[in-house]
Amino acid sequence: MQERIEQLKAELLALSAQTAQELEELRIKYISKKGLIPQLFDAFKTVPSEQKRLVGQQLNELKELATSRINELRAALAGQGTSHSDIDWSRSAYPTPLGTRHPLTLVQQEITEIFSRLGFSIAEGPEIEDDWHVFSALNFAEDHPARDMQDTFFVSNVPGTLLRTHTSSVQTRTMLSSEPPIRIICPGRVYRNEAISYRAHCFFHQVEALYIDQNVSFADLKQVLLYFAQELFGTDTKIRLRPSYFPFTEPSAEMDISCNICGGTGCNFCKHTGWVEILGCGMVDPNVLENCGIDSKKYSGYALGMGIERITNLKYRVSDLRLFSENDVRFLEQFKGAGR
Ligand code: DAH
Repeated sequence: MQERIEQLKAELLALSAQTAQELEELRIKYISKKGLIPQLFDAFKTVPSEQKRLVGQQLNELKELATSRINELRAALAGQGTSHSDIDWSRSAYPTPLGTRHPLTLVQQEITEIFSRLGFSIAEGPEIEDDWHVFSALNFAEDHPARDMQDTFFVSNVPGTLLRTHTSSVQTRTMLSSEPPIRIICPGRVYRNEAISYRAHCFFHQVEALYIDQNVSFADLKQVLLYFAQELFGTDTKIRLRPSYFPFTEPSAEMDISCNICGGTGCNFCKHTGWVEILGCGMVDPNVLENCGIDSKKYSGYALGMGIERITNLKYRVSDLRLFSENDVRFLEQFKGAGR
């Protein structure tokens, strides 16, 4: 046995391989499961017990030698053909870290996907808007107190120009530029002149939906709302509509969903009511249709709008709005693998 070990050792020290194929053959010959060295380990049983210690040690050394020789040859082969000019010295030594999608993007995509399954297509509009598209066309009278509901950023050197305060302005633009049937979903950023705190920000995100066709009724709206709520928050979710007021819809409503945290039994999040508000909606006011060139005797429609931050808070418990725009990777990394 000892003779054989010495012989193999000499062979290993003299090993060479020109190609990966040759190297692989050597690996199989010496160290694969049925290779020469494992065979010796099998034969070890027959070594007289007084020699076992010494021979065992030599065998282990042989095995280590074989592994390191094969690795050396592999490294030498891999290095072949690498001259200094092939090395890209500007390349980072660290692997490029993979980013994650922003939670607001995840939720926005989930919302638009649900509506796209119902045949809605995405529409977009400018963030720098004019007064007419944001307010006047949507039935906010010049001195209407509803304009006070939204603190607007005006572009001071261009009269009548402002940052849109809601995505409803995309409704205006789409109705003006296309014929019914219209079925659109409009995600986007909006701006309001609010002091920044954990629950208010000067910019945030909304998704608006608009459907205009012949004979669209409030029942259609209600069914879409139920489908949407159950797709987003689970099939156990219940909805409740409360009468409300928006200048551009009549009648108008706000929709609550059964609190997805306590399941409707009451908790701190829903202020022990079992319900949380998530969106505003209603039948498009005939004045709005007419303002946008659509015959209100022939067509009717519904609209709805919601804040993406609020939905994200409900889905992922992000209760401080400021986290969304701080760009802190420790926050963003928590959304790895989230969404669909
Ligand atoms: N634009 C409203 C807001 O920003 C939200 C809204 C309410 C949109 C009712 C709608 C609607 O389309 O029908 O507060």
